[in-house]
Amino acid sequence: MCGIVGYIGHREAYPIVLKGLKRLEYRGYDSAGIALYDGDEMKLSKTKGKVVDLEKRLESEITTNGTVGIGHTRWATHGVPNDVNSHPHYSNSGNLVIIHNGIIENYEPLRQELINRGYSFTSETDTEVLVNLIEDVKTKENVKLGKAVQIALNQTVGAYAIAVFDKNKPDEIVVARLGSPLAIGVGEEEFFIASDASPFIEYTNNAIYLEDGEMAVVRKKKGVKVRKIQDDSLVDPYVQELKMNLEQIEKGGYDHFMLKEIYEQPNAIKDTYRGRMRVEEGIIKMAGIDDHIDKFLNARRILIIACGTSWHAGLVGEYIFEDLARIPVEVEYASEFRYRNPVIYEDDVVIAISQSGETADTMAAIKLAKERGAFVFGICNVVGSSISRETHAGAYTHAGPEIGVASTKAFTTQITVLTLIALQMAKKKGVISTSDFFMHLQELERIPEKVEKALEASDHIKEVAEIYKEASNCLYLGRGFNFPVALEGALKLKEISYIHAEGYPAAEMKHGPIALIDEQMPVIVIATKKGHYEKVVSNIQEIKSRKGKIIGIVTEGDVTVKNLADHVIEIPETMESMTPLLTTIPLQLLSYYIAVMLGKNVDQPRNLAKSVTVE
Ligand code: F6R
Repeated sequence: MCGIVGYIGHREAYPIVLKGLKRLEYRGYDSAGIALYDGDEMKLSKTKGKVVDLEKRLESEITTNGTVGIGHTRWATHGVPNDVNSHPHYSNSGNLVIIHNGIIENYEPLRQELINRGYSFTSETDTEVLVNLIEDVKTKENVKLGKAVQIALNQTVGAYAIAVFDKNKPDEIVVARLGSPLAIGVGEEEFFIASDASPFIEYTNNAIYLEDGEMAVVRKKKGVKVRKIQDDSLVDPYVQELKMNLEQIEKGGYDHFMLKEIYEQPNAIKDTYRGRMRVEEGIIKMAGIDDHIDKFLNARRILIIACGTSWHAGLVGEYIFEDLARIPVEVEYASEFRYRNPVIYEDDVVIAISQSGETADTMAAIKLAKERGAFVFGICNVVGSSISRETHAGAYTHAGPEIGVASTKAFTTQITVLTLIALQMAKKKGVISTSDFFMHLQELERIPEKVEKALEASDHIKEVAEIYKEASNCLYLGRGFNFPVALEGALKLKEISYIHAEGYPAAEMKHGPIALIDEQMPVIVIATKKGHYEKVVSNIQEIKSRKGKIIGIVTEGDVTVKNLADHVIEIPETMESMTPLLTTIPLQLLSYYIAVMLGKNVDQPRNLAKSVTVE
């Protein structure tokens, strides 16, 4: 996720674009850049770091008060965050300049083709490929910028929101979107371009939200012309009147970042597997794995190290790896591992999981594993983070920035990456049949849709939250793949609502926690159809006979648990190994609503920090 901003009109562009970038910084903040047209030339400045770093640099560099400009705040996907990979990017001739939010999946073959045609590249980004592809089309076909953008985009696979400017045609900016948001603020002979309306809300209440697959030529005097990218047909743009305030817009209309991030999960999971899975061909392609496949195939065991929610994802990974790839797995708290003098073999593969990529204990555990000769693979969300640089290889989750301190989309996207790795290992080891492999790919592809469905239970979950919001304790139970989800559900509740909660393997309840159960105790039981269902039903009976309050997370259409439980929350049916991707959703929503009802600071709970860079 990145933020894009543009302005064309009669005001000075620089302050508008700069302020817009600050407002969009929640979308990405590893580097930033601006290109301004001074009436003759483009002035481009970009830097690794935050928008304030760009601003400092621009104090000395910006000499123009031109009225056209574009800007970008980056959340790296291709290429580490550095000055060169930052946007905007020039085309080889220096005539075109582009900003881009998204991923061009087929950038590598396009890049090769352009190199063969004499183009050269300074950055590692897919974006620089796109701007040169547009330039190539424009020159080859001798067409206007809008047409060139359209032809070029029809050759790409992936997701984008782009703005392109041609210094030889300074009265227009061409924009397009597919899979990434793009709004056009409509003023009096002035137009604003942005990932959301926050950069222009104080200038205009009128906005056109481009639909997926649409592009627009935005002209200072002639207005906005919208077309379908695929077939060139004209679209009558709908100018919407905005009634939101600034804060609401940054959070995409959600009350909190946490809620927004919960709802982002269908897309985040898609972004995680995008370009890595070719379902029809039955192929997984992950460079980090494929380039080191011998390490994975010859591994004695897999050691997963992580903290907090990432550790819970690791526990789900243990079940997935053992089940699919038939390899022994141990999951370790990084903080314990680093101080325990652990036995590490040179033929161990260590997988370190971290959303931020900066967690001090995980970092220290990685260094220890490397010293002992193990191969270390990282699963991080933040591109270019310390952990992603310290590991031998890795895979990013591509979930986009997670701002809410309580981790949500990081968890489900980490599980998605772990599933892809386990499937790839299983295939290469020959321990999964072709049809089973194919079925898993097909089901993973359907998960985003099923997450959407699970999110539809939100109103019902709110009612359940209202009933239990005053509870002092809560118990979460799950078995197999869903035992770690029980742990994660309990962690979510305690960290944002400050209600004491514990997660347990359902069968372990008899060995202690059952003593806590009385009519005051809500027990959230994950009882999906495919996960030791009958055994979990017996556990539910045990709770019921002690008058505990039962909230069952069940598969759609369930009857047995419905008859026993006080409340049930349904999730769509899926393969057992993928149930954590769905059962997590109601637990996130339940803790969210309880915390909101209790008036807690959901996005910044007391005593917590988003990345724990100290021991
Ligand atoms: C819980 C949470 C923390 C993090 C933990 C590890 O909601 O956010 O438990 O999961 O601090 O952080 P990362 O994944 O950044 O290493």
